[in-house]
Amino acid sequence: MTAEPTPPSAEVKACCSAAYSRDAVALLLGESYHPGGLALTRRLASALGLRPGWRVVDVASGPGTTARLLAAEYAVTVDGVELGESAVERARSAVDEAGLSSRVQFHRGDAERLPLPDAIADVVVCECAFCTFPDKAAAAAEFARVLRPGGGVGITDVTVEDGLPHELRTLAAWVACIADARPVAQYVDILINAGLASVSIEEHDGAIAQMVEQIEARLTVLRMSAAGRLAAAGVDVDAVLRYTALARQAVAEGLIGYCMLVAKKPA
Ligand SMILES: C[S@@+](CC[C@H](N)C(=O)[O-])C[C@H]1O[C@@H](n2cnc3c(N)ncnc32)[C@H](O)[C@@H]1O
Repeated sequence: MTAEPTPPSAEVKACCSAAYSRDAVALLLGESYHPGGLALTRRLASALGLRPGWRVVDVASGPGTTARLLAAEYAVTVDGVELGESAVERARSAVDEAGLSSRVQFHRGDAERLPLPDAIADVVVCECAFCTFPDKAAAAAEFARVLRPGGGVGITDVTVEDGLPHELRTLAAWVACIADARPVAQYVDILINAGLASVSIEEHDGAIAQMVEQIEARLTVLRMSAAGRLAAAGVDVDAVLRYTALARQAVAEGLIGYCMLVAKKPA
């Protein structure tokens, strides 16, 4: 199999953040843009042992759903960092509406150069986004830099094994978090090379299968009940369904999975 050429990193970042700011994504994914949804966010929070008053950095915070959940349910403060300008604006409005603006703020910025000082965070979380960062080692080093000694990092992300079909290695697949996803062992190595330790791993492969089913179910319903909305959001239903069919098969064959990784910055 010939390897798909790697798109330039600026193109990947711009394309990814623009794509996730589109209404189509909210239509297809709902309020939380990662497999496992809010239940897996709560699982991550509990694995990290969040305590009231802690400061959490949510890298690639997207619509800000996780930031709001953590502030409301765990009484932490949250700094979300997100590359997409309109995603940041939407996340800020939602936080205002939820009355959480004293505890949650969003910064526009790049995961590979976090706009935050050293050692300010008790915890860093990053859900379904690490796999899209072109320079994963730089992002992991940034997680370690903003963490206080003894702080924890929690990542949930797509994993892939060798042998993915070519169509799942394109720029569109990059946006869908598949093209540059890695085997779980590589994520572990990247975290350890960034100076993080005690990495624990939990498999959540069922979450990605469920997400693919959810997208297909939403598309089927929307196609019947709100075709105009889909068209206005620029969704090519047949193209998305071709893509989800490939992804569903790859998940069933064990080529694509989802994992949770928790690590610590040594004290
Ligand atoms: C699949 S969404 C996940 C959003 C959120 N973490 C969640 O789980 O709902 C990926 C997000 O990563 C953001 N993103 C991609 N590359 C980024 C980068 N280099 N720095 C910051 N955010 C980035 C995208 O704009 C998008 O909002």
